[in-house]
Amino acid sequence: MLRSASADPVIASALAHINAEPPVFSPAFRRELEVLFQWRRDVRRFETTAIPERLVAQVLRAAASAPSVGLSEPWRFVRVGSVAARKAVIKNFEESNALALAAQRRARREHYASLKLAGLNEAPVQFAVFCDEGTTQGSGLGVGTMPEMRRYSVVCAVMQMWLAARARGLGMGWVSILDPNRLSRDLAVPEDWSLVAYLCLGYPVEEHTDPELSRAGWQERQSLPDRVLHR
Ligand SMILES: Cc1cc2nc3c(=O)[nH]c(=O)nc-3n(C[C@H](O)[C@H](O)[C@H](O)COP(=O)(O)O)c2cc1C
Repeated sequence: MLRSASADPVIASALAHINAEPPVFSPAFRRELEVLFQWRRDVRRFETTAIPERLVAQVLRAAASAPSVGLSEPWRFVRVGSVAARKAVIKNFEESNALALAAQRRARREHYASLKLAGLNEAPVQFAVFCDEGTTQGSGLGVGTMPEMRRYSVVCAVMQMWLAARARGLGMGWVSILDPNRLSRDLAVPEDWSLVAYLCLGYPVEEHTDPELSRAGWQERQSLPDRVLHR
C-alpha cells in the first residue's frame, strides 16, 4: 500500500521503508558483488589521508544492520582517536607481537618478523569493537546453549563493515595481536564487554586480489572442495 510523502525526514524515511518493493538483484549487480568479494582485502598499508566522516558513518550503519542472535545487537564500537589511547594500542601491539614472534618456530621467525601485521601508525580511523556479553536486549533468545553467539553476531557486523568500506574505496585491517584485557582496561570499557576486533580504516596504499600473506609466501589459500564435507 502506498502512503503519501511526509515533510518530516524521520517519518519520510519510515514511510520509504513501508513503501519499498522488495528489490530484484540483477546479474550485473551479482557480478559486481562478486568483484567486491574478490577485491576485499585485509589492509595494513594505509594512506594517512583523513576519511570523510560521512563515509565513516555509512560504514558504521552497515555494521549495525548485521544479523545478531535474538536481535541482541551486542556490538559496541569504541572509536580510538586520542593520542594516549592510540599510544596504548601501539604499545600493546608491539609487546604482543614480540611474544608472538618468540612463539614462532625458529625456522619461521625471520619470515614472521618481516610481515607487516598492522597499520596502527597510519590508519586515520580506528575502532575497538566489543561484544556486550551482559546485554539483556533479545531477552537471551538463542544464547542459552551457546553464549558465544553474541560474539559471532559482532563478527557479522565486522564483516559488513569490511565490505561496506571496500565498496567506498576504503580499506580495513583487522588487528588481533593484542592483549584484550589490557586493551579493555586502557579504553576503560565495562567489565562485561569482550574484545572482538580492533579495526584500522583508511585509504589503501595498494590494491590486490590476493591476500598479503599469500603474496609474502606465508600461507596459500586452500581449495574449497577440501573444506566441504558430506554426511
Ligand atoms: C579474526 C581475524 C583476525 C585477524 N588478525 C590479523 C592480524 O592481527 N594481523 C594481520 O595482519 N591480519 C589479520 N587478519 C587478516 C588475515 O590475515 C587475512 O584476512 C587473511 O590473510 C586473508 O587475507 P584477505 O583478508 O586479504 O583476504 C585477521 C583476520 C581475521 C578474520
